[in-house]
Amino acid sequence: MKLSMRLHERSYDIILKRGALQWVGQLADLDRRVLIVTDSGVPAQYAETVRAQCREGTIVTVPQGEASKSLAVFARLQQAALDAHLGRGDLIAAVGGGVVGDLAGFVAATYMRGIDFINCPTTTLSQIDSSIGGKVAVDLGETKNVIGAFWQPKLVVIDPDTLATLPRRQFVNGLAEAVKAGLICDPELFGIFEREDPEEKIEEILYRSLQVKKKIVEQDETDRGQRAALNFGHTLGHGIEAVRGVRGRRKNGYYHGECVALGMLPMIEDRQLAKRVRAVYRKLGLPARAGYNKEKVLAQMLHDKKAGGGQITLVKVPGLGCWRLDKVPVEALRELVYGKALPAPGQGE
Ligand SMILES: NC(=O)c1ccc[n+]([C@@H]2O[C@H](COP(=O)([O-])OP(=O)(O)OC[C@H]3O[C@@H](n4cnc5c(N)ncnc54)[C@H](O)[C@@H]3O)[C@@H](O)[C@H]2O)c1
Ligand SMILES: [Zn+2]
Repeated sequence: MKLSMRLHERSYDIILKRGALQWVGQLADLDRRVLIVTDSGVPAQYAETVRAQCREGTIVTVPQGEASKSLAVFARLQQAALDAHLGRGDLIAAVGGGVVGDLAGFVAATYMRGIDFINCPTTTLSQIDSSIGGKVAVDLGETKNVIGAFWQPKLVVIDPDTLATLPRRQFVNGLAEAVKAGLICDPELFGIFEREDPEEKIEEILYRSLQVKKKIVEQDETDRGQRAALNFGHTLGHGIEAVRGVRGRRKNGYYHGECVALGMLPMIEDRQLAKRVRAVYRKLGLPARAGYNKEKVLAQMLHDKKAGGGQITLVKVPGLGCWRLDKVPVEALRELVYGKALPAPGQGE
């Protein structure tokens, strides 16, 4: 299956096909110097499959985990590109999850003022979400994605076969973003989660989720208006992420998708739908009940970049497949997070 992203300056294809990693050379020009970036947790055969199709490919393997999205690793990769004699007409390819995609994409965006980039995402999260949209970045210490750019890939190659090696919890983590896509835009996608085995339907789930993201990103390439819909669950989710800690960095932390899953629940205005969503979470193995300190999360959200002048903009889902923006006083957030009962500040669970 092929989707084409139509953007003002650059357009590119997203290829979604089982075994597609073996065909990258037929889809992109690999007859040049290629720096292939992967990480130590990604089975080495995936980067090797891509390298075997390059005229002159060099694989660089960074340590797995969010910590590799750093300026230090970024500098190492720039050096590796220089050592491999990459010129302006050469290519950087990411083979891995969102960490590798964000990092390698940012290297491509900046090396010699920007060279070609292709992305071969290998996690559900990166196949559904992070590989599309052109956002590339590294973190500054614990602050995520502060140094980055918009840099569109030349091509995205999604091979669902690579998901076979992904640990179950990682697999489910990314599916939270697909549930999100269904809730804001695609009732049929949400229905798949209710009725079917997501592992069996993974190609359709990926395809439908990508279509939702494509539609929204095409309307709003640089993140000013419509793209806010993709933040559904994320404002609260980021607060939870900051307080509970990100798994990988903290031992009992949550993954991003798990935080988003929890962050979506209070933003669903239809109680019946919220019940159905919880049932989907239980089926998938996503957290369905808040296991976080609500007061700490609320305090964290006061510092959220979207909180301006005591107001915060939330994405709400009034019914399945639709969304709206709601600018509310920060206090209204307390009400949402606690549900109906409103304990005094400081009485968080
Ligand atoms: N650019 C964007 O628009 C955007 C959007 C959402 C998230 N992100 C970023 O994405 C990152 C998270 O991405 P992620 O969830 O893919 O995490 P990740 O890249 O850390 O991958 C998760 C783990 O799975 C391993 N792995 C990857 N592919 C595998 C495979 N096929 N088989 C076995 N193991 C595999 C990795 O080594 C890693 O340990 C974060 O840094 C986040 O900021 C970016
Ligand atoms: Zn997300």
